[in-house]
Amino acid sequence: MEQLKNAIIERGSVVSDGVLKVDTFLNHQIDTNLMIHIGKEFANRFKESKITKILTIETSGIAPSFMAANDLDVPLVFARKKKSLTMNNDVFTSSVYSFTKQETTEIAVSKNFLQENDQVLIIDDFLANGQAALGLAAIVEQAGATVAGIGIVIEKSFQNGRSLLEEAGYRVESLARIESLKNGKVTFLADKTVQTI
Ligand code: G4P
Repeated sequence: MEQLKNAIIERGSVVSDGVLKVDTFLNHQIDTNLMIHIGKEFANRFKESKITKILTIETSGIAPSFMAANDLDVPLVFARKKKSLTMNNDVFTSSVYSFTKQETTEIAVSKNFLQENDQVLIIDDFLANGQAALGLAAIVEQAGATVAGIGIVIEKSFQNGRSLLEEAGYRVESLARIESLKNGKVTFLADKTVQTI
């Protein structure tokens, strides 16, 4: 997706350890116009999949999921990382280990918002080691629902997330695929464009 690649090149920065900082438009400040285009792109890629619900995870998954849900005319549900005051114990839960943060988070979704006839599109901002997406997929499966696909805004293709998800049988659609972040340079996978940022 050209508009997203341009945002990464022009407004992103490479920080150490293969981490891309995009808090100018995705992880802190949000470019709503870009999010609208991202959401529409997800909706377009999954328009034949009879999606009935989108599932993401707070915080940064919510913005890119919003317009996709609106376009597909389905509800958007986000998994919580902390139990809210009003959430009872009737929840699906899953443990998500973050290699980046070296900590495990228990994520939860109320049983009210996932039913066994749901065809669920999972969306997240980054795909690194795939643990968040696998945790969300585990919740969908606990509900007896179906994972119709996984939509990712930025995939770090040099980490093993995509292969884990594909081995588990899931369709993965990423809007930007990054082959490398070495030496402060972003290399995108598809066209081998190298950009210094
Ligand atoms: P995984 O889910 O693919 O296994 O990823 P990992 O544990 O490595 O990542 C944990 C958190 O770090 C996630 O956000 C993920 O989106 C984010 N992340 C991973 N790689 C990058 C990167 O290169 N750049 C940025 N900006 N983020 C990255 P989170 O903690 O859930 O954050 P938030 O959704 O609350 O903002």
